[in-house]
Amino acid sequence: MLEHLQALPTDPVLGLAAEARADSNPEKVDLTLGVYMDEDGLCPVFAAVREAQQALVAEEQTKVYMPPAGDEAYNTGMRRLLLGGDSRVLAEGRVSTVQTPGGCGALRLGSEVVRAASPGARVWVSDPTWPVHIPLLGSVGLEFATYRYYDPASHDVDFDAMTADLKKARPGDVVLLHGCCHNPCGADLSLAQWAEIARMADLQGFTPMVDIAYQGLGDGLENDAAGLRLLVERLPEVIIAASSSKNMGLYRERTGAVLFVCEDASHAANSTGHALAAARRCYSMPPAHGALIGGRILADTRLESAWRAELEGMCTRINGLRVSLRSALESATGRDYAFIEREKGMFSFLGLSAEQAQRLRREHSVYMLDSSRINVAGVNAGNVEYLAASVAAVLGD
Ligand SMILES: Cc1ncc(COP(=O)(O)O)c(C=O)c1O
Repeated sequence: MLEHLQALPTDPVLGLAAEARADSNPEKVDLTLGVYMDEDGLCPVFAAVREAQQALVAEEQTKVYMPPAGDEAYNTGMRRLLLGGDSRVLAEGRVSTVQTPGGCGALRLGSEVVRAASPGARVWVSDPTWPVHIPLLGSVGLEFATYRYYDPASHDVDFDAMTADLKKARPGDVVLLHGCCHNPCGADLSLAQWAEIARMADLQGFTPMVDIAYQGLGDGLENDAAGLRLLVERLPEVIIAASSSKNMGLYRERTGAVLFVCEDASHAANSTGHALAAARRCYSMPPAHGALIGGRILADTRLESAWRAELEGMCTRINGLRVSLRSALESATGRDYAFIEREKGMFSFLGLSAEQAQRLRREHSVYMLDSSRINVAGVNAGNVEYLAASVAAVLGD
């Protein structure tokens, strides 16, 4: 039977990351994957994670299955982190939460619930968006529509085009929004723009689904959730897909959560019921390790402040890298790269053609996607000048 299968092409991002790993040039620069890296090019384990993990291993009595909705301490902590401790919807009991295998699991379960509630729903995705959104949501059977988002000329959000496209979203449709640190472009909505999206959702009856995988890595934990909180405050219904991969460094532990903010508690409970039924169809119970660590951190004031301080350090470092990358690129090319400083989080487009991105790989061992999306966190003091000189070389400056 299996001999009938055709070989599939490698995933373009993972394939490129493997190519970069195999490159033996000591000067190589790998900016492919969306993974935070420190000055030594390592993706570190947070000190709070290390400590919580040690306590967990010392105290763990059983490996019995997790409850279907996951670890309650983690889910409670995530609700507070995403919505704020004083959130009205939390006090009103209008939010339900299911712990998921990473942000991908949250997107998948969220889409399964959308499909159950509105089988003809179209999901509106930004152009561009994280490419994995399409197979992840599409495999549930949902249709897609695209809204224009990023203007390569201004390196900014084209909000007029975005709202012109979203005027066509109907009741029962879902609009997928990046909560912060847009992947791949780094251009985020202002609070006034979030308010306009909330007004449109209210008027037109579409439901926002907010994918928030980088909270704390753009402008701090609270500011990065401000747009999401505004939607939740003003609308009867918001779906949230959250990940602890990046902001707790729990990538391989597959830790995330899907939240359903609903008009009342019974709708929230029904949403959870459908999410759990979908999980049962796919993988049954969520993984334990990452959520038990995250839950311990978020339930312990001392560990949480240590985690917050380390995350703030990463955020400050990324924003510092944006300043040095802009300056190095401007000196090497004489062009304007102010947009790199304006954008948020781990990603930016450098504005190169696919052919220039390929030349960077071939001739300089500088690895970025063909779209010229870079992981800013892969830049460091040791490679920034080489990176800028390589970009200048392919630009012909
Ligand atoms: C935009 C976006 N959403 C969601 C995710 C999901 O992350 P994970 O499933 O690793 O938690 C990612 C990971 O790269 C992402 O970039």
